[in-house]
Amino acid sequence: MTNTIRLWALSTLCLFCFRSFGQNKKYDEPYRPQIHFSPKQHWMNDPNGMVYFNHTYHLFFQYYPGATVWGPMHWGHATSTDLIHWKQLPIALYPDSLGYIFSGSAVVDTHNTSSFGKNGKTPLVAIFTHHDPKGAAENKNNFQNESLAYSLDNGATWTKYAGNPVLKNPGITDFRDPKVMWFESGKKWIMTLAVKDHINFYSSADLKSWKKLSEFGMGIGAHGGVWECPDLFPLKLNGKTYWVLIVNINPGGPNGGSATQYFIGQFDGIKFSPIDTHTRWLDYGPDEYAGVTWNNTGNRRIFLGWMSNWLYATQVPTKSWRSAMTVPRELKLADYNNDIIVTSAPVDELNHLRKKTLAFKSIPVSPKVNLNKMLGDLSTQYTLHLNVGSEQGISVELSNTKGEKLTLGYHKGKNEYFIDRTHAGISTFNKDFEGKFTAPRLSGNKTIRLTLVVDKASVELFADEGATVMTCIFFPHQPLDKLSIIADKDFEETPLSYSPLKPIW
Ligand code: FRU
Repeated sequence: MTNTIRLWALSTLCLFCFRSFGQNKKYDEPYRPQIHFSPKQHWMNDPNGMVYFNHTYHLFFQYYPGATVWGPMHWGHATSTDLIHWKQLPIALYPDSLGYIFSGSAVVDTHNTSSFGKNGKTPLVAIFTHHDPKGAAENKNNFQNESLAYSLDNGATWTKYAGNPVLKNPGITDFRDPKVMWFESGKKWIMTLAVKDHINFYSSADLKSWKKLSEFGMGIGAHGGVWECPDLFPLKLNGKTYWVLIVNINPGGPNGGSATQYFIGQFDGIKFSPIDTHTRWLDYGPDEYAGVTWNNTGNRRIFLGWMSNWLYATQVPTKSWRSAMTVPRELKLADYNNDIIVTSAPVDELNHLRKKTLAFKSIPVSPKVNLNKMLGDLSTQYTLHLNVGSEQGISVELSNTKGEKLTLGYHKGKNEYFIDRTHAGISTFNKDFEGKFTAPRLSGNKTIRLTLVVDKASVELFADEGATVMTCIFFPHQPLDKLSIIADKDFEETPLSYSPLKPIW
């Protein structure tokens, strides 16, 4: 064997070992999501620092590598070129003398306003909250401050800024989760910060020195809990630009615990003015939280949330890891009965996972149809599209031979959508887990269009082109591999399509 061949054999073996024992860990444990990002092991919460750069989507996340419960926060890191297949990378940010690394955002500093760029390299800059656990334990009120880190190698390694923190806490216990964006018409950076029960806006020319511009939110929207993880971005409707302000809230969600609300308005570079005082929810289900959007994705606005709820996140029955993210969703504006709302749809890239599609122009339901007869053995991950007339109620039932079932659908009398996981499996780990969750129907369309994204232990319901969305996790003793449809009355001409999906790991 020549040295070259020896070297080749050795490196192939190393690569094989790395893939087998490192990156390519099997991801086949009970409840392990097959089409959603989850960390190889240990605890994860909020998505952080989401930014698109050099053909790569970066996803950082609140991560504790020491256990499967929350602890000293780091930023974990994963990347994808298609928003669907993820590669988990080494931890990006570790706690330091200023504290844990709480949630925040990342920007591409194209014009090198921060001067972190060297030798023509464009810096990626992360803006995050330093949470000082000592200050918190001593009941101080200024233990959360905003700091910077930058990367000159496409996000692979990060250097914390020596001048941290860049935005000091004026004495408010909840002062966190900065979302920064470039405001082109004012040629400045805007930071949206969650401050207990409202939002503060700041501006900066260089990401290092910040000036307070305005406040928003006191007395408007939902206030059943603390405001966290905000986001601010423009979206167009019929050629007109509106600004969407996302504010996550915990507790106080429409179905209990944590949830994502948003406001529609105008942002003039200084202040946010809502078009009305309605409380709107991006997802009514119990299991979408801390959702925000990617920076730097051009005209697309792509949202990702943490698929859990602080009510029970640390107790869900997964063993080596805890929590997953939702499927990435594209956000758009729509006008429903003279109300402007944000709609969500799974990103088109999800369709690339389809193994095949079984489409039926019409299925007879009288009053219950077992779809397994038509669809064969069910995959553990699939999408299902279904259209029915709004003059009747309908339930989709996912069940198993143990008699466990999750039902979801539309209640005609109440004009609302629901997901019921009361009998869907293990729920004793927390009294708030079991239950039936509801969401209003916002659309007045005659036809109800439902899209389900089903994974081993989660379902995401997108109704009426994403006008009403519900995310729900569940933990059956056996996979819910039976699928039925139950209707109030027989229905005709009900198109349905089912696409089993390839696992992403
Ligand atoms: C939201 C949150 C953030 C905070 C982070 C800590 O889930 O509470 O406000 O930065 O989690 O992990």
